[in-house]
Parts: sequence; C-alpha cells; structure tokens
Amino acid sequence: MDPRSEVLLRQADLFSGNLLLAGLQPDDLLGQLPEATGWSWHAGDHQRLQARFAGRCTFGVEPPTTAFEAAVLFLPKSRELTDYLLNALAARLPGGLLYLVGEKRAGVERAARQLAPFGEARKLDSARHCQLWQVRVENSPPVPDLQALAQHFQLERPDGSLQIVSLPGVFSHGRLDRGTELLLDQLGGLPTGRLLDFGCGAGIIGASLKKRYPDSEVVLLDVDAFAVESSRMTLAANDLEAEVIAGDGIDAAPDGCSAIISNPPFHQGVHTHYEASETLLQRAASHIRPGGELRLVANAFLKYPPLIETHLGPCETLINADGFRIYRAKRG
Ligand SMILES: C[S@@+](CC[C@H](N)C(=O)[O-])C[C@H]1O[C@@H](n2cnc3c(N)ncnc32)[C@H](O)[C@@H]1O
Repeated sequence: MDPRSEVLLRQADLFSGNLLLAGLQPDDLLGQLPEATGWSWHAGDHQRLQARFAGRCTFGVEPPTTAFEAAVLFLPKSRELTDYLLNALAARLPGGLLYLVGEKRAGVERAARQLAPFGEARKLDSARHCQLWQVRVENSPPVPDLQALAQHFQLERPDGSLQIVSLPGVFSHGRLDRGTELLLDQLGGLPTGRLLDFGCGAGIIGASLKKRYPDSEVVLLDVDAFAVESSRMTLAANDLEAEVIAGDGIDAAPDGCSAIISNPPFHQGVHTHYEASETLLQRAASHIRPGGELRLVANAFLKYPPLIETHLGPCETLINADGFRIYRAKRG
C-alpha cells in the first residue's frame, strides 16, 4: 500500500462517501473505500486500476464529469500541475471538502499553501512521512482553462521553425531540454518507415521527425496524459499529422518500427526510476524491424551501452557533450 493511501485509511470514516481520488496509486485503496472513484493521468496506473476495479477509474487531463462530494489530491511532482489540479477539483466542489495528501520530502507542507485561495486549510494528520490536509472550498474558482495554462515556445531548426506547446507537469515545461536539443541535431540518416518517439513529452522529437521525414509514419508515445495532450497540441500547432499513444512502456508501442528515437525517462517523482528505460533497451529489438535502429540521448553517467549491446547490437556513441551522450544501435 502506498504510504499516502495508508494515511487516508487512518481517517477512513472521512472518506467513506462518494469521493474522488485524484492521482491515486495502483494499490488497494479503491478496494478499501468501496464508494470512491479514481482519476489518473498515468496510463500504467490507470491500466492496473482498471484491471482490478473496472469502471471505477478514469484517465485524462480533466476530472471525470460524474458527480463527487469530496476529493483527495495525491500530490504530484510539479507545482504548476498541482495548481491546475487543485483548481480543477475545487471548481467542482463549492462548499465541499478538498484534501491534499503527499510525502513530506515531496514538499506537501509547501504545497498545502496552494489551498489558501479556496478557504482555511488545516493539517489533519502526519504519519508515514506524509501529511494530510483539508480545506472546505468557501471560494470555488472558475473551471481552469487548460489550453490557457499551456506554454508556447518556438524552435528554429534547419528544416524550419516549430511551435512547441507544453502543459503543466510535462518534462521541461516551456523550454527545450539540453539533451533533447543535442538529439535534435542528430536526427539525420534515420531509416524511414515508422518512426517512434518513445516518451514524447511535449512532442518535440516527434514533431521534428515528422517535419524532417514527412513521408514516414510518426508515432509518439507517453505514459502521461498531460504529455500526450501536449504532443497533440504541438502537432496541431504545426499542422503535422502523427499518431499519439497513451501507454506505459515500450510494450504499448507498435511493432515494425524503422527507428525508435528517445530521450528516455530516468527520473520520476521523488524516487529515481530506470525501469521504463531499461525495459525499452531490453525490448526495443522486438519493436524494430531488421535493419532499423535505436537512437537515444542519455546522461553520460547512465550505463546504457552494455544493455543496448546485450539486447540489440553494437552501440555507437555519436556525440558526447555537456554531460550527455547520443547512442545509436542498429538491429542486425
Ligand atoms: C526525459 S522526458 C523526454 C520528453 C521529450 N521527449 C523531450 O525530449 O522533451 C521522458 C518522458 O518519458 C515519459 N515516460 C516516463 N515513463 C514512461 C513509461 N513507462 N512509458 C512511456 N513514457 C514514459 C515521461 O512522461 C516523459 O515525458
């Protein structure tokens, strides 16, 4: 059980009614709170919750339209995303109770200050290195306009300019990551066909690929609903067509790719996770056609080449700059 769920269960009488759990973890909380429903923006968590509690969890960037009497937000990583989520929930709860639960090291005490515009917040519990806060929504805000919260920036590339749109919580929100920038400079000579941008974020790599290889089919994949929505917005802003998939890990990707291009995830929340990237390296070969390739950027300290060589083939370092490496490996 996630420690934040355990903290909620210490006050289970508060949460026995028609409650929305926003950003809940794929644990047994829905089993313990039979009247509660969930809202997740993580495709993997959502899939796991659906498998156990079919029909009790929705996926997306907006709260479900069904009625709820109170809501709990599991604190996400980004401050901007927290702000959007709290406003989206408070807008649906005039006079109702809104709760925030999070780990102390994730900054829940600071995030609790974001409850102040809605009413007087109070700390209900502190346990398992987490805190639980509550506010009665005296001042219900208008429904936030997610489009208006998007950040827009322009990239000047040799093959033209690109408009990038990113939503709160998306990797490198509102700016170009240096690793991504280095990878964009190394997109030449890819085998055409089906190109996959794995872990697409705001869709910078995928949109660049479609611009550079207009005759190729481009697929963008991310686990996060806000990233998927940002990628769709980026493609639309540039009149580019590509498929965008919400999915968890490389297993959600189509087969027969001519190339997989990625700035893969290696950090998630307050805990460090390499799992999605390691699984990508282990299983990429089964999604790449013979003669196709994997091209990715990674922090130089990450020991990816041995994994790539074990599972795909000889790994070449195209460049080594600013603490990043660009790797290329072909499937024989
Ligand atoms: C380092 S960011 C790169 C984003 C974007 N490609 C760029 O370069 O700006 C990695 C991305 O992988 C996504 N991600 C994390 N875990 C994932 C998983 N299991 N499956 C698919 N995508 C995942 C994250 O949401 C994030 O958008």
